[in-house]
Amino acid sequence: MSDSKKMQPIACGDKTIVPEGAKKIPIIVMGKEYLIPESLTVMKAVEYAGYKYHRGCGCRGGICGACGFFYRYEGDYKLRTGLACQTVAKPNMIIAQIPFFPMKRAAYNIGDLEETPEEIIRAHYPEVFKCVGCGTCTRTCPMEIDVMGYVAHMKQGNIKKAAKKSFDCILCGLCVSRCPAQISQPTAALMARRLNAKMLTPVADHLSKRVDEVGSGKYEKMLENLGSLDEESLKKLYMEREREPDLAKPGEWMPEDLTHL
Ligand code: SF4
Ligand code: SF4
Ligand code: FES
Repeated sequence: MSDSKKMQPIACGDKTIVPEGAKKIPIIVMGKEYLIPESLTVMKAVEYAGYKYHRGCGCRGGICGACGFFYRYEGDYKLRTGLACQTVAKPNMIIAQIPFFPMKRAAYNIGDLEETPEEIIRAHYPEVFKCVGCGTCTRTCPMEIDVMGYVAHMKQGNIKKAAKKSFDCILCGLCVSRCPAQISQPTAALMARRLNAKMLTPVADHLSKRVDEVGSGKYEKMLENLGSLDEESLKKLYMEREREPDLAKPGEWMPEDLTHL
């Protein structure tokens, strides 16, 4: 095998590997045109153009919400949104990133709240009742969440449904930036999810049992043993571990070795 074959670079994480002979396309960042190789994400294209991220970049995996951006195509009226780490740059995109957008965050200690979940939401986020049902938030959301729908559930006092519908929210703030009623939908929804977990969801007995076991020190010796192993032994242990088969039916598979359960 030749050295060049052995050294094939892998494009992962924040590493930009430009495909050989890639066609160059124009994009506009902060009002200035740059030629970048096609097939890069917007995040990598902006870096290729010479910018360095100090904010507005986190997981690079579509889950942290730090890289929301707006864009238009030249000559097209439509304002679009996306996550810079998940959207492939296209010719003539005019790009503006919003690494942060101010949202209202109600101050509360979840343990001190005693009213019903719907009363609590009404007291802390009364502005949800100003929603005019325009649907802009839903059209803006890069996670394809029915934002208007979860706001409607909050208005109706159905906190469980609001929690469920907003579950995939990554708090990118794009919907907040567009709401004519100035609602901070993601933080209100975060409160709905917390209330749902605290007040509307049955306590999981198995979780309490496991927390008690951890507290009683059951796993400390096992952790100590693991910590004393060298790298090779750890790798071997990892490679030889019992794994749940990919197609196992939920709740049906159990490992043969039950020592750690
Ligand atoms: S609901 Fe709003 S904050 Fe949450 S992911 Fe969608 S646009 Fe972003
Ligand atoms: S953008 Fe604001 S007013 Fe419009 S539907 Fe969404 S929450 Fe309601
Ligand atoms: S960097 Fe985390 S969602 Fe894009």
